[in-house]
Amino acid sequence: MLNRRAFLGASAMAGLSGLLPAAGAAANLYGPAAGIAKLDANENPYGPSSAALEAIQHAAAQGAYYVGPGLERLSAMILERFSLAPENLTFSAGSSGSLSDLARAKAAEGKILGPDLFWDTTTRLALRQGGELVRVAKTEDLGVDLEALYAAITPEVSLVQICNPNNPTGMLLDHEALRDFCIRASKKCTVLVDEAYNEITDDPDGNSMIPLIAQGHDVVVARTFSKIYGLAGLRVGYLLSQPDTGQLIRSYGIGNYTLNKAGVAAAVASFDDEVFMRFSREKILQGREMIIDAAQQHGFKVAPSQTSFVFIDLGELNANAMRAAMAQRGVLIRGIYQDYTGWSRVSAGLLEAVEKYCQALPEVVAELRA
Ligand SMILES: Cc1ncc(COP(=O)(O)O)c(C=O)c1O
Repeated sequence: MLNRRAFLGASAMAGLSGLLPAAGAAANLYGPAAGIAKLDANENPYGPSSAALEAIQHAAAQGAYYVGPGLERLSAMILERFSLAPENLTFSAGSSGSLSDLARAKAAEGKILGPDLFWDTTTRLALRQGGELVRVAKTEDLGVDLEALYAAITPEVSLVQICNPNNPTGMLLDHEALRDFCIRASKKCTVLVDEAYNEITDDPDGNSMIPLIAQGHDVVVARTFSKIYGLAGLRVGYLLSQPDTGQLIRSYGIGNYTLNKAGVAAAVASFDDEVFMRFSREKILQGREMIIDAAQQHGFKVAPSQTSFVFIDLGELNANAMRAAMAQRGVLIRGIYQDYTGWSRVSAGLLEAVEKYCQALPEVVAELRA
């Protein structure tokens, strides 16, 4: 067992050790410190692709100028793929930029409704300005309860928010059920579906709610270049929505001033790069299987994941203690989410980093069970 002091020290280390460079180690200024297995933020460390790296170099040389026509190119690529118009598209530095603007805009109109456990980082921002987030209990199996969510949409609700697949559970909703929910719910309020991990699912097109936008439903879909494209540090994301919702979101932001040229260039080079995406997906699925196997070998159950991370039921063990014990061994994972004290989230990072987690697990479990 860890005593309180060791526990706090390890917790602090979990937050910092992946970020602080060793003295004089310039290469570590921008990535995890040497020897650290970074499995805590759902990044794809196999990116950026070589095409993206080349584009970044090109664009960075023109870094004296604001973003420019590269963004029009990216915009045209996205709109062509999804058969939408420019007024349906809002860019930001990562999808979290526009998601925050949307949360603040909708919190000013009413309550935001969501499941009890989802990626609510941007939504919680709106709470600081007096907004209200109403959480609806999950189903028995940790799923998003669409019927309960629908029943909870009162006239005061301005936005209902769902992550599909969900973070931190990794679970995917049935696409027919979600489509039906979106159509019904969007008659009452705006529906946001955050599809940050869509490209990692077994059927990205089938699982996406983007077609509902062209059909005129008041649905917003969030997409990002931070996950499968391996560009989290280059900060490009976007929302697709009805034109009036887009206008509202943009009225809470500062437009394309949050975007950077290198990120846009990397996104242009990556958007249609199916070879790189296939490669990334294979690595992610391989890492995910390794995590699931290691967890199951210790008798832990896992939520069925369609993402780059696994939500593990540690039973009687505490997820913060697990995080601290792993951090002491140079492995960064997540701790407790809300009151899910026994659930641990582990991302499929570099395969050698995942291996380090798998190797540390028997010792850590033995230590925590002692
Ligand atoms: C579900 C979900 N949406 C959005 C984001 C934000 O990503 P970004 O701002 O890098 O696009 C994350 C990040 O982890 C996420 O898990």
